[in-house]
Amino acid sequence: MTAFDHTKYTPFKPVAIKDRTWPDNDITHAPIWSSVDLRDGNQALVEPMTVEQKKQFFALLVDVGFKEIEVGFPAASQLDFDFVRWLIEENQVPDDVYIQVLTQARPELIERTYKSLKGAKKAIVHVYNSTSTTQREQVFRMDKEGVKKIAINGAKCVKEHAEKHPETEWVFQYSPESFTGTEMDFAVEVVDAVTDVWQPTPDNKVIINLPATVEVSTPNRYADQIEYFCRNVQKRDSMLVSLHTHNDRGCGVAAAELGIMAGADRIEGTLLGNGERTGNMDVVTMAMNMYSQGIDPKLSLNDMDRIISVVQACTLLQVHPRHPYAGELVFTAFSGSHQDAIKKCLANQTDDKPWDVAYLPIDPRDVGRSYQEVIRVNSQSGKGGIAYTLEQEYGLALPRWLQVEFSPIVQQLAEKDGGVVDAQSMKDLFESSFMTGTTPYRLGKYDLTKDDVDTVQAELVTQDGTVKIAGNGNGALSAFSEALGQHFNMRVDIIQYQEHALTVGSDSQAIAYVQVNIDGDRFNGVAIDTDIVSSSIQALLATVNQKIAENDTASVA
Ligand code: KIV
Ligand code: ZN
Repeated sequence: MTAFDHTKYTPFKPVAIKDRTWPDNDITHAPIWSSVDLRDGNQALVEPMTVEQKKQFFALLVDVGFKEIEVGFPAASQLDFDFVRWLIEENQVPDDVYIQVLTQARPELIERTYKSLKGAKKAIVHVYNSTSTTQREQVFRMDKEGVKKIAINGAKCVKEHAEKHPETEWVFQYSPESFTGTEMDFAVEVVDAVTDVWQPTPDNKVIINLPATVEVSTPNRYADQIEYFCRNVQKRDSMLVSLHTHNDRGCGVAAAELGIMAGADRIEGTLLGNGERTGNMDVVTMAMNMYSQGIDPKLSLNDMDRIISVVQACTLLQVHPRHPYAGELVFTAFSGSHQDAIKKCLANQTDDKPWDVAYLPIDPRDVGRSYQEVIRVNSQSGKGGIAYTLEQEYGLALPRWLQVEFSPIVQQLAEKDGGVVDAQSMKDLFESSFMTGTTPYRLGKYDLTKDDVDTVQAELVTQDGTVKIAGNGNGALSAFSEALGQHFNMRVDIIQYQEHALTVGSDSQAIAYVQVNIDGDRFNGVAIDTDIVSSSIQALLATVNQKIAENDTASVA
């Protein structure tokens, strides 16, 4: 037997449900959301939140749109108690928000919990005890009757205290903790016993929260448990079935989604998934999943950077760069083919069309990200990303043939620097590679005469003075290429030419791109000027300057 021995684990025993219906269901609307960041999330932190951090987090949760917020475990923590008092005494809870507090099903804790809530307008009292086989047998050493009694007594106690404070609008919530490790018929039996005490009605519902305290199965098995529970519990019409999943197997969101398909009404979770061990299920991911399917999640997650910054400041945990919808890199494409596809789709995308962009499940702008972050160029990138960046940032619409030429130059730089090439470095590289129309020769005065053939007479200015050149052709460019060829004793053939007006950062300027063959070698030149003839002949001069520089290097070598 090796130390890594799978036979020491037993497979999860699924609930016996044959005619399950949930797989045919879809999620069609947002559940009721309850944030447990300030309780479950906070309990799991190396350094629990200070009151100041809790205040900041609470404000965020309200702004995001949670109407039910579990603010703490006041009977277990003085800080939580004080925070609940502050919320109430300082009138910090909006009228449409329920604060929720957790308590074990023990009379003295329930009493203290109600003390913390004195004067609250609306409150959810969340009482729990563990019902699982493991906890019954090994932790409490109690039989099923004993565990059920704890739940019943807790429920009675919760009800009695509430009756003493009719000024508050109370909602009762019960969790059979470790529900997923509980025999389903027993879970139903305990919940029936609790609702026998609380006597909810369809107009006055209670919340029954079914936690995957530890995630122990594939999400479909959790969904089976939820469907089984919903079918068999007595007062289904008088309760909101709530889910509280953890992420031990990495499927907290998936389990919650399938649980909703199986009939649940409400979801407890945290923003970005902080919580015990591998975390609570992440409300951001689940809500954004809905959003990406055209469903209003009824939460405002558009200011993702604020959410991240508050969560990080309060939990002292970093958000992973690949965290769904929120991570710094999740809308970024490095691979050339991805960049190419994104560029093409973005060019087709208009505001009146449904979002349909390869590799981007949502529009990054919806969560406050910009398109500039979408494409980042590193040594893995291709021409698409480079072209996209230059166009978005500087309005340079590089022709395809120039994209092909420029891409390996950028990749070389990325490999050399071992990282991402930012837009400015890319532009610098573009200018030094192609916009070489000023050294050693720059265009001085020129005159273009149009007749049967076009004639150009131009001055080229160097450090050492001015030279005059002249040439003919069927257009300015070919006349100038003849002039250059004659003067420098080169054969200059134009292969490609493109121009466009510049729209970014300049009024009425034109950019010209040329590709030429000079004595058998290919060169690319680019120039910007106020008129298109000037920019094209300077682009051509740029190629000749490159040839001269190449010849100089060769002769020095
Ligand atoms: O994970 C859990 O079971 C809990 C309960 C207290 C609901 O946090
Ligand atoms: Zn939990």
